[in-house]
Amino acid sequence: MSKNLSELAGRKGLTNTLFEKIGEAAKENGTPSAETLEKLANEFIIGKANTFGTTSFYDFTKKENKGKKVYLCNGSACVCAGKQDEVKNKLEKHFKPNEIGHMTCIGRCYENAAFNYNGKNYSGNDIDQFQISNFKLQISNYNVKSTTAILTAPFDGFEKHYSLLKTALKSNASDLLNEIKKSNIRGRGGAGFPMALKWEACKNEKNDTKFIICNADEGDPGAYSDRYLLENRPHSVLFGMMIAGFITGAEWGVLYIRAEYPEAVEVVQKAIDELRNHHLLGKDIDNSGFNFDFKIIKAQGAYICGEETALINSIEGQRPEVRTRPPFPTQQGLFNKPTVVNNVETLAAVYSILKNGGETYAKLGTGKSKGTKLVCLDSFFNHPGIYEVEMGTPLLKVVNDLGGGFKTPVKAMQIGGPLGGIVPVEKIKNLSIDFESFAQNGFLLGHASIVCIPTNFSMMRYIEHLFEFASYESCGKCFPCRLGTQRGHELTSKAINENYKIDCELFNDLLNTLQQGSLCAHGGGIPLPIKNALQYFNDELKPYFS
Ligand SMILES: Cc1cc2nc3c(=O)[nH]c(=O)nc-3n(C[C@H](O)[C@H](O)[C@H](O)COP(=O)(O)O)c2cc1C
Ligand code: SF4
Repeated sequence: MSKNLSELAGRKGLTNTLFEKIGEAAKENGTPSAETLEKLANEFIIGKANTFGTTSFYDFTKKENKGKKVYLCNGSACVCAGKQDEVKNKLEKHFKPNEIGHMTCIGRCYENAAFNYNGKNYSGNDIDQFQISNFKLQISNYNVKSTTAILTAPFDGFEKHYSLLKTALKSNASDLLNEIKKSNIRGRGGAGFPMALKWEACKNEKNDTKFIICNADEGDPGAYSDRYLLENRPHSVLFGMMIAGFITGAEWGVLYIRAEYPEAVEVVQKAIDELRNHHLLGKDIDNSGFNFDFKIIKAQGAYICGEETALINSIEGQRPEVRTRPPFPTQQGLFNKPTVVNNVETLAAVYSILKNGGETYAKLGTGKSKGTKLVCLDSFFNHPGIYEVEMGTPLLKVVNDLGGGFKTPVKAMQIGGPLGGIVPVEKIKNLSIDFESFAQNGFLLGHASIVCIPTNFSMMRYIEHLFEFASYESCGKCFPCRLGTQRGHELTSKAINENYKIDCELFNDLLNTLQQGSLCAHGGGIPLPIKNALQYFNDELKPYFS
């Protein structure tokens, strides 16, 4: 059935998507009316269940979103910073309680107290100046520093930047792919899959229609490095997508950008317009025979849409459930056509790889982790912000030298998003920023965001928060995750709020079932931080278990 839906969606193509129409229809009241959904079902020749099913999935289209006027960030970094109750109290002076919704997260982890109003994000002291009308966007600054500048290197300027594209378009796609192979770059979206292998698989597929998707759905609370790249280095991201298109034979680049990053959508659209004004988009770019164009799809608030197959379903206007693999997206992706999905940071590295050569890039880093990595530090650091470091850089250096240490006592850090490990502070000295070091020590580098858990924050409360997040964001396709994350939330919540002790054996069984039985890394990944917490904070957690 979903295969047929993909084909049907493909007939309308990218210029007229059901997903965007649903988003448009939700704008006025926060959710589309039942009549509109029926009309859309007829227009797209699908059942009503499909348009209703899609609409009810997303934070910003579901009926519970009706009438929401302001959104409070409830991501892990804001939760740990402990300022959100105060922000809510202040917002309640201007809004009724049912006009206040939630967003997870809006990428202001460097100062927290974050909220979204009228399509713009605010944080830090902004709440103290809040007023309903004429509330102007504050410029939000954070540190951006590097020990090795590749992604954060100054922009070369439009002409120079795209002269490299023009040169590339005159060369052979296989030679360019070889350069990417030599760089040994692995994906930065979490799984660490080699970029060249993915591109090669797509290149080898015989099909007239292929797609390059930039996964800009950075949903990991604590991470705002993709936001930085989209807002400050949009041409690096677009360049990487165009090269991916040239190598694989794709003519469309789709940027799936989360709604929680409204500024990023605007900046990337401007960069695309700039390319068009310079005649570097469309047919036969620079007389090379290469055709390419971009499309931005603004997401509607669902963490699972960061998972590449859910993301593809989302663009198609289907309920964004994870797809079983195989077939892989490079074989059957968007509209069942061969598709490359890459993370923003992975794509942004291509410019440097082609400019300086794959071998130069591969000289940076460790055995299996080449190049540099952006690391995001939250507001518990003396110098919060984004730091670009060579892979293999000791975590201690990031925490103490770059981040300036902690402002207030911290007992652990969750690194790599909600599915990343919980690293107790005594383990910092054992780790370096690379895939191998984290895996060998029982953690996960992921997207390398760092959320601090302060000493006075209950670890049980943190585990409950993770389960609550995981169950809310579960796509519901497989039982272990759909039911297991919910049961985990219930158990932890009951142990915190009632005179109830969790059966240890039952809890371990739940974690193992999630880990082994889940279809994707959402349900499969959530046990890692919880197991870390049980291992390293046993004394603190013991009273909650029988
Ligand atoms: C629950 C879940 C959420 C994910 N969220 C993101 C995300 O926000 N951004 C991202 O690039 N990859 C995310 N991924 C990984 C993608 O599925 C995919 O591996 C990635 O986009 C591929 O790009 P890369 O090879 O450049 O890393 C997520 C995966 C899972 C299981
Ligand atoms: S693990 Fe969770 S998010 Fe992944 S497919 Fe199963 S229900 Fe969906």
